[in-house]
Amino acid sequence: MSTLAGKHLVLGLSGGIAAYKSAELCRALVKAGATVQVVMTQAAEQFMTAVTLQALSGRPVYTSQWDPREANNMAHINLSREADAIVVAPASADFMSKLLHGGADELLSLMCLARPLDSVPLIVAPAMNREMWSNPATQRNVAQLRADGVHVLDVGQGDQACGETGDGRMLEAEEILQELEAFFTPKLLAGKSVLVTAGPTYEAIDPVRGITNLSSGKMGFAIARAAQMAGAQVTLVAGPVHLPTPRGVGRVNVQSAQQMQHAVMQHVERAHVFIATAAVADWRPAQAADQKIKKDGSGQTPQLAFVENPDILATVAQSSRALSGQLFCVGFAAESHDLLAHATAKRQRKGVPLLVGNIGPATFGQDDNALLLVDEKGARELPHASKQALAFDLVADIARRLT
Ligand code: CTP
Repeated sequence: MSTLAGKHLVLGLSGGIAAYKSAELCRALVKAGATVQVVMTQAAEQFMTAVTLQALSGRPVYTSQWDPREANNMAHINLSREADAIVVAPASADFMSKLLHGGADELLSLMCLARPLDSVPLIVAPAMNREMWSNPATQRNVAQLRADGVHVLDVGQGDQACGETGDGRMLEAEEILQELEAFFTPKLLAGKSVLVTAGPTYEAIDPVRGITNLSSGKMGFAIARAAQMAGAQVTLVAGPVHLPTPRGVGRVNVQSAQQMQHAVMQHVERAHVFIATAAVADWRPAQAADQKIKKDGSGQTPQLAFVENPDILATVAQSSRALSGQLFCVGFAAESHDLLAHATAKRQRKGVPLLVGNIGPATFGQDDNALLLVDEKGARELPHASKQALAFDLVADIARRLT
């Protein structure tokens, strides 16, 4: 379930071509379970109609502080008192300048000024031409708004509606959604650094072939996202998978188990938690051929010799930081049967305080899973749910173990 479920958000639109993305955002927020009250400036109405946003939000849109629907004629007070947060997307350069100076000549800025500072956060998603964005006036305004406690989101980079290319695009609806979900997530891992491995490894036989496995990386990516949303600084060492990097997560792409080990060793010194979800190949070809191995017509198959890969988790679990309790290690076990027995034995063999078991064939590539958390005291089941929901539960469980 999204952290936005049950939240009441005021979605404010100021004038900018990025307003078309706000329709998608409105839809995504409603889908995530939030109620959305849209407020538009007159300039925003040049880009989108109130009808569109009313249809998407399921609520009449407010565009004027003189709206007679409000019995006391104080829309700016009423709307802001009900909200869990005000989200202005797009926030134009002009609108941010107005916010900065406490301007209040139309409903949206008036409402932002009138909001209770302690209980109604203001989140803005800037959108403008790259020159406007980089102008010292805008940058000054952004810095001052942040100092005033406004949560100013980053801008995107790329082609702009004006035909220029650079910084200043509004984030995509999905990215803003992720930012808002993170905003409402309890910061259980604030100040912590988390290192996650995910996905399969790929062990080359020759330049065009290799050995890999069916791990999709989804569980590890979901855990990285949940940890980042919980306030941790997250590094994700990913084997070859085509999954988008969760917002705010630092990603290191690797192919082989040896590369994965190298990347882990580079980052583990700063980590407080190491979560090994990767399905690391146990063996690799002893020698990867420099050139493609060709059929020679004799019907003879090539003879492949294997060597064992380093056990990354077991190595990290034996490091001085892990043994002294500065680093908390979590292992995963993908089993096909006898989950509790195998997971219990694997926990001891790997030397980790927590081992998370799951049935591999049932979950590889799927969006849902069920987990069995095994520690020194016994086992606890996290029943069948989406991988993202399980990741939030697992992160909360790990956070409790750190305190
Ligand atoms: N792991 C690792 N490096 C390896 C192998 C596994 O870091 N070379 C980690 C995985 O990321 C996971 C756990 O160890 O957290 C799973 O171990 P696994 O390899 O599945 O277990 P094995 O010890 O190989 O046991 P078995 O072959 O009996 O399943």
